[in-house]
Amino acid sequence: KYYTDPALFAQELQAIHFDMWLHAGRTEQLPQAGSYFLVKFANVNVIVLRDVEGNIKAFHNSCRHRGTQLCKEDHGRIAGKIRCPYHAWSYELDGRCAGAPNMEKVEGFDTRDYPLNKVHTAVWDGHVFINLSKNPMPFAQHLAGLDKKFAPWGMADLKLVERKVYHLKCNWKLIFQNYSECLHCPIAHPLLNQHSHYMSGDNEPPQPTYLGGRMDLRPGVETLSMDGKSTVPRLPGITDEDAKHVYYYAILPNFLLNLHPDFMLTFQLWPQAVDRTDVICEWHYHPDAINRADFDPSGSIAFWDLTNQQDWELSDRAQEGIGSLGYQPGPYSNREELLLGLDAWVLEKLEGKRA
Ligand code: FES
Ligand code: FE
Repeated sequence: KYYTDPALFAQELQAIHFDMWLHAGRTEQLPQAGSYFLVKFANVNVIVLRDVEGNIKAFHNSCRHRGTQLCKEDHGRIAGKIRCPYHAWSYELDGRCAGAPNMEKVEGFDTRDYPLNKVHTAVWDGHVFINLSKNPMPFAQHLAGLDKKFAPWGMADLKLVERKVYHLKCNWKLIFQNYSECLHCPIAHPLLNQHSHYMSGDNEPPQPTYLGGRMDLRPGVETLSMDGKSTVPRLPGITDEDAKHVYYYAILPNFLLNLHPDFMLTFQLWPQAVDRTDVICEWHYHPDAINRADFDPSGSIAFWDLTNQQDWELSDRAQEGIGSLGYQPGPYSNREELLLGLDAWVLEKLEGKRA
């Protein structure tokens, strides 16, 4: 029922997605004052923007008068103030209500009482996070040292080169589960298995905010691309040792981070319904690589698009089977320990909310 019951889905959103830090985008999407993008999932609609002081802020995308959606386009630039299209209430980029026409004679009305409803934000190495809770867990506690661990990849410097949006017909947890084991790799991903043996590498023990591990590239394989070759130099901070691995980290509850010696792949998972999840996958490279005349990321883009499609197909089929009358849960292998960790974590979150 955790994959099919809309009531449990709503409880999970409350206990997990509306409580934890969510990966929303990258700072490069907000180049100047007024730049914004929207985060939309389930019944959430948030404007993430850069204000006149250069700070990244986020607000619920709903007018304080009669609730109208303020920004409609998925991203863009607000010139001056945010203006509601309905009755022209307007807001500064820091959320303050700047004007409310025809309210002059309303007794006791004060624009200061009607700022946009705020959403917390944080930035880690170019990654923008939002938190919908009133009292978010400190962001450092959420990162739990991953900022130090992954500092050598210099993620803040990397630039977006490709973005693909996938619409999956499955519960969000099935994508985490698929991501957190590689027993399916020799069967579903022959090319991946050719570059990186499915039993190689190690997982960290499950953590309160992330599940992760790394896998080894086979000898002679430089990165994950169609031919296993890299066409760009490795990232400046990467050691010979790190260059032998790909790191796979599921940062709960919506961010997957794949770090290769020469590029970064990110996934945002946006639950839309109990059996629907949108995935935004992005390929990021170092500007020195991008500026080379012979820069060609097509091999790594094609590799991961292929691998993604293979995974999404299986995730959708898992949903289909789990939603069918004859479904009965089966046992995990000892190499599926992260899935067990995820299940325990979801139950704990739901219990915590009920307690
Ligand atoms: Fe926005 Fe009236 S609903 S100004
Ligand atoms: Fe897979």
